[in-house]
Amino acid sequence: MGLSTGYKKIRTAVFISGTGSNLKSLIKFSKTNKSPISIDFVLSNNSKARGLDYAKKYDIKKKVLNFKNKNLSEKNLLSVLKVNKIEMICLAGFMKILSKNFIKKFKGKILNIHPSLLPKYKGLNTHKRALNNKEKYSGCTVHLVNARLDSGKIVLQKKVRISKNETEASLAKKILVQEHKLYPKAILKVFNL
Ligand code: GRF
Repeated sequence: MGLSTGYKKIRTAVFISGTGSNLKSLIKFSKTNKSPISIDFVLSNNSKARGLDYAKKYDIKKKVLNFKNKNLSEKNLLSVLKVNKIEMICLAGFMKILSKNFIKKFKGKILNIHPSLLPKYKGLNTHKRALNNKEKYSGCTVHLVNARLDSGKIVLQKKVRISKNETEASLAKKILVQEHKLYPKAILKVFNL
């Protein structure tokens, strides 16, 4: 990723839209000695996102920008990230698509977690589609973010077996447990740790 870890941890922002369970796992990881990153900022496009409570609990700066005017929200966001000296971004259940221009500003420094074995099932409703297609396996992927949706270089994946009576909800739950382990592992990998 071209970032040197050195002594100081890399100041990282996490973007969320909902529950924030991945945010929680990233915060916990960031507080361990082996973590190359610290979580210093949380952005949500949704003021009701439950994940915002973690920012409060762990005393992390947070901001809500509704992205109704994407241009304006991103402009605002870029300046806040600059003020907070943010060097890296982890998308964690963030439901807005960032513009090419924004991604360029953080080129190679934005990660995303997606609940499928990419390149399969990009976009929404991944579990439903995997079940409809009678897949034997699904899983999760951490990848670098580029201008095309869920298409950047894959950092790490974890496969899970789909059981006989699997439902969308049970599969989502099973994969989420793995997501919480995969994201920290992928960050270590990105930093060659
Ligand atoms: C996760 O399944 C993530 O892969 C997807 O949205 C979900 C977010 O969950 N993009 P949470 O908000 O981290 O609990």
